[in-house]
Amino acid sequence: MKDAEPRLDIRGAHPREWESLDPDWLAEVEALFCWSLPKGLIARMPKLGWVQNSGAGMDHLVAHPELPGDIPISRADGHFGFWMARYVCGHLLSEAQRLEECAEAQSRARWDPKLIPEDLGGKLALVLGFGRIGRQIGRALRELGMDVIGIVRNSREDAEFQLATSAKLPGFLPETRCLVLAAPSTKETRGIVNAGLLQHGNSKLTLINVGRGDLMRVEDLMAALDAGNVGRAVLDVFSEEPLPAASPLWHHAKVAVTPHHSGPSTPKDLIPDILDNLRCFAEGRPIEGTVDRLREY
Ligand code: GLV
Repeated sequence: MKDAEPRLDIRGAHPREWESLDPDWLAEVEALFCWSLPKGLIARMPKLGWVQNSGAGMDHLVAHPELPGDIPISRADGHFGFWMARYVCGHLLSEAQRLEECAEAQSRARWDPKLIPEDLGGKLALVLGFGRIGRQIGRALRELGMDVIGIVRNSREDAEFQLATSAKLPGFLPETRCLVLAAPSTKETRGIVNAGLLQHGNSKLTLINVGRGDLMRVEDLMAALDAGNVGRAVLDVFSEEPLPAASPLWHHAKVAVTPHHSGPSTPKDLIPDILDNLRCFAEGRPIEGTVDRLREY
């Protein structure tokens, strides 16, 4: 990051070791690049005027009790789209191409011509949360031949995709093959996938959550899986992470659990994503596209 913006005096520390930083230097700090925000740190930085998150989700910062509401915070979500699109398509294609069954047949040297892949062409995929990440996922699903609808907060015309609000979800779900959750956790989205919605699902529906665990009520999802209103769930995010060993999700036959790895953060990907912000900051210009604290993203 230092090389990317040499006009700034940038120092780094592990969140657990921030106290090793010179307190006089900390007192002059004007901007912070972080994921977790250690307790006590903000109070040591009276001149702090900007927080750049090292990820897409802002729920942990928006809700942070020590972070004053008037300090602008910004996201870094530019590089996650391709990763998450690959995650979603990988899991969906694994089902559609019947990879597990093929591997099982191979393990028994069985040639089974009945193992025809499923045709995803023309099947409906919904992507809840259609910002930069959701749109990239939508594009990838469309390349698989699926009909894609982006579910957004406020309906609007879009040159590329059909968009609809979440009020339309119950009407879509009976025909939906894949519902991807790629929305932030906000007061409007928490618990949006609940029994009331899932009762409109179908036995072929695959639900993939790459957004936040609390978008979904886990007990309601389990009941819907058991009732055949959801066919399978692929879950990368959970309300509590790591997912506790006692969670029934680990052992449910229709659930795939992955360790919040659908969008890894690497410096190589992240730095280009925040370069414009760093430049604005170095030049004393306002940071664009900061999070709306009321909207929570
Ligand atoms: C990861 O979950 C992120 O929000 O960046």
